[in-house]
Amino acid sequence: MPIDFYNKLHKAKDVYTFRDFILLPGLSKIEPEDVSLSSNFSTDIKLNVPLVSSPMDTVTESEMAISMAREGGLGIIHRNMSIDKQVEEVKKVKRAESFIIKNLVTASPDLLISEATKIMSKHNVSGLPIVKSKKLVGLLTKRDVKFSDIDSKVSNLMTKTVVTASESVSIDEAKRIMHKNRVEKLPVVNNGNELIGLITVKDIYSREKYSLASRDDEGRLLVGASVSPFDLKRAKELDKYVDVIVSDVAHFHNENILKAANKISQEISSNFVVGNLGTEASVEDVIHRIDKFDGIRAGVGSGSICITSEVTKAGSPTLFAVSQIASKLQEHNLSKPIIADGGIRSSGDAALAFAIGASSVMMGNVFAGCNESPGNLIKIGGKYYKQYRGMGSDSARAQNYIIDRYSKKGKTISEGVEGVVPSRGNISELVKDFVGGLQASFGYAGAKNIKTLWQTSSLGQITGVGSDELKPHNIILPGEDKY
Ligand code: XMP
Repeated sequence: MPIDFYNKLHKAKDVYTFRDFILLPGLSKIEPEDVSLSSNFSTDIKLNVPLVSSPMDTVTESEMAISMAREGGLGIIHRNMSIDKQVEEVKKVKRAESFIIKNLVTASPDLLISEATKIMSKHNVSGLPIVKSKKLVGLLTKRDVKFSDIDSKVSNLMTKTVVTASESVSIDEAKRIMHKNRVEKLPVVNNGNELIGLITVKDIYSREKYSLASRDDEGRLLVGASVSPFDLKRAKELDKYVDVIVSDVAHFHNENILKAANKISQEISSNFVVGNLGTEASVEDVIHRIDKFDGIRAGVGSGSICITSEVTKAGSPTLFAVSQIASKLQEHNLSKPIIADGGIRSSGDAALAFAIGASSVMMGNVFAGCNESPGNLIKIGGKYYKQYRGMGSDSARAQNYIIDRYSKKGKTISEGVEGVVPSRGNISELVKDFVGGLQASFGYAGAKNIKTLWQTSSLGQITGVGSDELKPHNIILPGEDKY
């Protein structure tokens, strides 16, 4: 059979990226503020704000994940660390808030005040329920122990008549009880006065302040964690605590990876997101070979720190990848959420990804400059920056946890770069700007939510020259000297 080299080139697919398109304005009956952006990240994870921070070691650890979830999005804890450390980062997010805190740190009435104080500082809590034979017998707070005799017994200083609530207490009822009795901590007990949990004023305030937050049934913040498909042990450990496990390899469409990922899909109970994928054929194989998956990361080689396409000339730009995956899923009548991952610089890019079939967008570069990302601010020439690096960069790979992102044994070439990005302040401001920009895009397109945008929006294709005209021009901007 002769090989058709001519058509391989001349019938090559048109592969587009964000800068090639614009969203065409449509007849609009809605105002931007009426647009709802709520969408699914995975089968069971619904977000009010469909923005997700990448599992990268200069982007998402617990601090970022807590802020992302509070703002209605989601953070995926990176895997460039030991299993224990990653589990601990996940636990920090889960402990950050909840309506009724379970798994409490408690103390016995027979302890000394010095011992109880040590427990409070070790676990960073401001009070301890005092328990004897599982029953609640008192409450000790930092305030009770101030200037006290540290050799005295807890039973001498604790509050003995404790106001409590029953297991079925609602938030409003809890607020009423706390207000009436002027207390900031409300232990929850069962019929036998056994301690079940604790409600705190701090958690109730937080719930009201972050009304769009992504939370589980117990009011705890949602969090994801990334794994290598070859690391079943890590996936099983994380599965005990996390809400979603996200596969983290550059090229998921690989025999060994499909096999290994299928094993993970069979052994975990959390949602499982596969990826990264970029072609219709890869989706076909995932559908047939992975028993259970709850979402797909789309995009190969488009990230701002990627040199994959430069080094290998292989890749599937995110917008193209999303359209390939969306059309293949539709052919199979499957509604799995697609996560557009890599190359998104602005809310406008995100809007294009949504128009083409994405349900959420994952960003590294955009979030790396925020205060909540790992690492300190770096001052260069009077301006502030933060470090940002690809997980395939030499320095990230030097930790040895991430080398299988690019092949089972670890490739020898680097597929990412490292550098700095401008400091961007707090996540909350950035998310607000993104949400505002997205709502405005949806307003232009005349779509009140993501599903309507999928159905009714149309795109316009632009040339490189045209795309230049869409930027500010013929004006001297502060800091630039070109006209
Ligand atoms: P942005 O454009 O938001 O992209 O910075 C983040 C996404 O890029 C992927 N990623 C990499 N891809 N080499 C790659 O080819 C790398 O070193 C690398 N590190 C991260 C990843 O999908 C991330 O979410």
